[in-house]
Amino acid sequence: MKLTLTLFLVVTVCHVILVEGCTFKCSLIEDILAMMFKSKASDNCSHPKPKEIPAFSASMTNAKVLGATEILKFDKVWTNNGDDYDPKTGIFKAPFKGVYQFSFTVMSSNGKNLLVYLWQNETRLVSVYPGIGFNEGTANMVLNLKKDDRVYVKCGGSGHGYIYTAKDYWYSMFSGYLIHATK
Ligand SMILES: *[C@@H]1O[C@H](CO)[C@@H](O)[C@H](O)[C@H]1NC(C)=O
Ligand SMILES: *[C@@H]1O[C@H](CO)[C@@H](O)[C@H](O)[C@H]1NC(C)=O
Repeated sequence: MKLTLTLFLVVTVCHVILVEGCTFKCSLIEDILAMMFKSKASDNCSHPKPKEIPAFSASMTNAKVLGATEILKFDKVWTNNGDDYDPKTGIFKAPFKGVYQFSFTVMSSNGKNLLVYLWQNETRLVSVYPGIGFNEGTANMVLNLKKDDRVYVKCGGSGHGYIYTAKDYWYSMFSGYLIHATK
């Protein structure tokens, strides 16, 4: 009876932690559980549901001329586990502290220039400057984010907003995912 109660409590804690995304804690509890009970009760920890793994991929549908400081809105969503990426604003918001991976690829329009930057909150990070289009450029970054940190791609100035993309080709895209939650 006491064992059953303990098991219930541990599984409940494990579930709460999992929903909050602290997968490292969850796997620790899972290990302890496995040691104590040789039990398979914590299956939900080793196999979380997709929405519990923050990850997104989105493409831009239509070519356009971006405003000088316009945030790129990748409107065609392929994956958005947890809905932490907002296709209406183009902003990813970290659901919790952790190590995250981001990448984006953009194509410049025919005969025109494109310059975009990756931003974390109010901090400008790397740029991509594919040169006169049609040309593609790409960037990859691993970032240590705090909860609610925002990550997005923004145009790098007037005359540099000529982004190309097309429905069914999806040349320009933005992706990100949690590598691991941290303390
Ligand atoms: C795992 O998740 C399923 C679906 O939410 C639920 O029915 C089941 O009780 C969970 N198992 C454990 C051990 O938490
Ligand atoms: C980033 O901005 C959000 C508000 O949008 C804030 O909650 C968060 O603490 C900021 N992160 C840092 C590292 O300043």
